[in-house]
Amino acid sequence: MFGFRSFIPWEVSKLVAMFQAAAQTVFVSSAAASVYRSVFLVGCRRYCKKIPTKLRISEALSGAELGAEVKVQGWVRSVRPQKNNIFLHVNDGSSLQSLQIVGQAKLNDPLLTFGSAVEVTGILKKSPHQKQPVELEAEQIRVVGECNPVDFPFKIKDRHSLEYTRQLPHLRCRTNAFSSLLRIRSEATAAIHSYFKNNGFVQIHTPIITSNDCEGAGELFKVEPSGPDFSDDEEFFSVPAFLTVSGQLHLEVMSGAFSRVYTFGPTFRAENSQSRRHLAEFFMVEAEISFTESLDDLTKVMEDMFRSATEHVMARCVEDVDLFHRHVTPGHRDAVEAMLNKSFPVITYTEAIDILNRSSERFTFPTDWGCDLMTEHEKHLVKHCGNLPVFVTDYPYDLKPFYARDNQDHPRHTAAAVDLLVPGVGELCGGSLREERLNLLMARLKQAGLEDTYSWYLDLRRFGSVPHGGFGLGFERYLQCILGVDNIKDVIPFPRFSHSCML
Ligand code: 4AD
Ligand code: MG
Repeated sequence: MFGFRSFIPWEVSKLVAMFQAAAQTVFVSSAAASVYRSVFLVGCRRYCKKIPTKLRISEALSGAELGAEVKVQGWVRSVRPQKNNIFLHVNDGSSLQSLQIVGQAKLNDPLLTFGSAVEVTGILKKSPHQKQPVELEAEQIRVVGECNPVDFPFKIKDRHSLEYTRQLPHLRCRTNAFSSLLRIRSEATAAIHSYFKNNGFVQIHTPIITSNDCEGAGELFKVEPSGPDFSDDEEFFSVPAFLTVSGQLHLEVMSGAFSRVYTFGPTFRAENSQSRRHLAEFFMVEAEISFTESLDDLTKVMEDMFRSATEHVMARCVEDVDLFHRHVTPGHRDAVEAMLNKSFPVITYTEAIDILNRSSERFTFPTDWGCDLMTEHEKHLVKHCGNLPVFVTDYPYDLKPFYARDNQDHPRHTAAAVDLLVPGVGELCGGSLREERLNLLMARLKQAGLEDTYSWYLDLRRFGSVPHGGFGLGFERYLQCILGVDNIKDVIPFPRFSHSCML
């Protein structure tokens, strides 16, 4: 009876109008969206007086709903029963600060323990205590999920080290430090997307599964089906397929049509390393820019992006960043401010080798021209340049992958490649101008026996080739750099590295 056919035109037009209004709400700014929301909430409250407004803890702490009856939901961070009252702190991940709940002693429940999940309704009031702006005078406290404090691996009074919480990837988001980290990570992601959006870049979803080894370093994870429907000698894709080590080559395809493109996604390297700056799965921000003939154009984008994302995070995550700068790496704020206030020095690889050779420091690895820069060298160079991020340009041609542009210089043959080295971390970005000249690229690929594999890549140089270049930034290393976190495993929700794939 109420099937599709029974709609009369008026109802249909009402539905269409509702749909359009909803669609418009999606597209209006977040400020306008919050006005809509407030109007909606006030309306709801007037007509359904008994339903308290549900608030995120950050909203409750902002004091916007003082005097109103509200409901909050979250996890108990502290419980203090007293003779006449009970005090709780409840956190829902929306801010570092928890909301203080005050209730009469009769609301106490033995199940109200550290770590339990609760739903509290009551009146939001101005707090008499200076430490918090508001508190919730509870009318009702409901335990939604129990948490046995004896078994719970975090203890109410203890400060747990990052090493300890790392062993508990399923629970560490309940700690202050890791929840702050994840809010910062989320905000930094948004900041990087904004930077590219505001600078005319088109985002490309480059594939996770690929048939190329962009870096040519052989650090690939092979992708194969594991089900019973495939025999061992049959390739699912008819060609060997791998998890991507870089989206660069796919971005180069796209830079041939959009001029400025970027991608930001997971990247995989089968590096047998347990170091504090390597992961088997990490996130990489990569950009590719056409009509670019100089490394300066690339270093400008790298430096601008670093500055813009960092300023955004420092301004938007004040308390969360402060937690790291005060308690995890005291004094790191000064280091970050120095990075933001001074421009990044640029030196060539040849100058870098000279600096290393003139130093009185004894290095474990050789510093002859032609050798790769190791962590100890990177650290020394950063220190030498005043503990600022430093660009090192024009590396030996033989150290760089096939795509790097030949500088055609002699006798020290270099490629137009650049790395950004940063304090405490070492290499944060790697990039280069790409070899856009068909004959030179073809000769290099031929030499490596890769001419057929990369015939499509050579096509890009046949059809409207332009000078172009790009870079990749390791997102976890970026977070380590701005927060001063020593181990890369502490800046990613679920770290993957050799011999470890928890959860
Ligand atoms: O220097 P890489 O290998 O450069 C590329 O992959 C280029 N194809 C990027 C491009 O030009 N589009 O990697 C870029 C950055 C490094 O500087 C480093 O910060 C990070 O990615 N990185 C890692 N981060 C964590 N764990 C690992 N195993 C990493 N390997 C590289
Ligand atoms: Mg590199």
